[in-house]
Amino acid sequence: MLANPKELLKKAQRKKRAIGAFNVYNLETAKAIIQTAEVLKAPVIVETTPRAIEYAGLGYLARLIQEMAESVSVPVVLHLDHGLSIEMVERCLEAGYTSVMIDGSHLPFLENVALTRKVVEIASRKKVPVEGELGTLTEHLRFTNPEEVGEFVRRTQVDSLAVSIGSSHGHAPREKLNLELLEKIRSKTDVPLVLHGASGVSDEDLKGAIERGIVKINIDTQLREAFTDALVETFRYLQTKDPRDYLQKAEKAVAEVVEEKILLFGSMDV
Ligand code: G3H
Ligand code: ZN
Repeated sequence: MLANPKELLKKAQRKKRAIGAFNVYNLETAKAIIQTAEVLKAPVIVETTPRAIEYAGLGYLARLIQEMAESVSVPVVLHLDHGLSIEMVERCLEAGYTSVMIDGSHLPFLENVALTRKVVEIASRKKVPVEGELGTLTEHLRFTNPEEVGEFVRRTQVDSLAVSIGSSHGHAPREKLNLELLEKIRSKTDVPLVLHGASGVSDEDLKGAIERGIVKINIDTQLREAFTDALVETFRYLQTKDPRDYLQKAEKAVAEVVEEKILLFGSMDV
């Protein structure tokens, strides 16, 4: 069923588990994620970046995910990942998203506060929770400053907070998380904390992060790699010109990564 993540994340926080947030851009990735979550009886966050929205079309993508969500018994959150503007958030709210992120992490602190606060005001009219971000994971990596966390959460009233503690977007090998920094951040706020850029992070560090308060973990690159690798491998031996034959293999490969992550995050009985 389509779900609001607010209570789910709080529950995960109490149980020291994390909910997997997986990126979607087409039918196959949506099916792989939602059906795997249903089999494992795990709530799941299905997220779309602005690029995915541009690629697939907001209405098409939203309705596809909503339709699939309503056909399963586990809670499925439809989340805007790295929302860039108020206008984009408004379009997603209109399309029935149940969660949004506004990414003001590239802005100076006070501008990030102002943008995020505005989005919280708008989204709260529909009771949709908002994820904000402090610190950056892009090429200009900047760790979250724990001294800014309390003020950011208080002034914006965000429902969850993405932090920069060593991971980066993409699948760089051996990304090391600063778990001490995470503990400091955790001590400054009670809001659920979110880890982005998790594809390059070891299982051990992910477990350490969950232990210390990360409750939503974003995975994108690893799914796209699994999808692509499966196609490359399939074309080596499969003589077919029917896309359904090879897309099915790609879907299965994505489902395998999703299963592995859900088991690692322990979200089955949240
Ligand atoms: O917002 C999406 C994520 O942060 C995904 O990061 O591509 O490193 O898995 P990733
Ligand atoms: Zn991200």
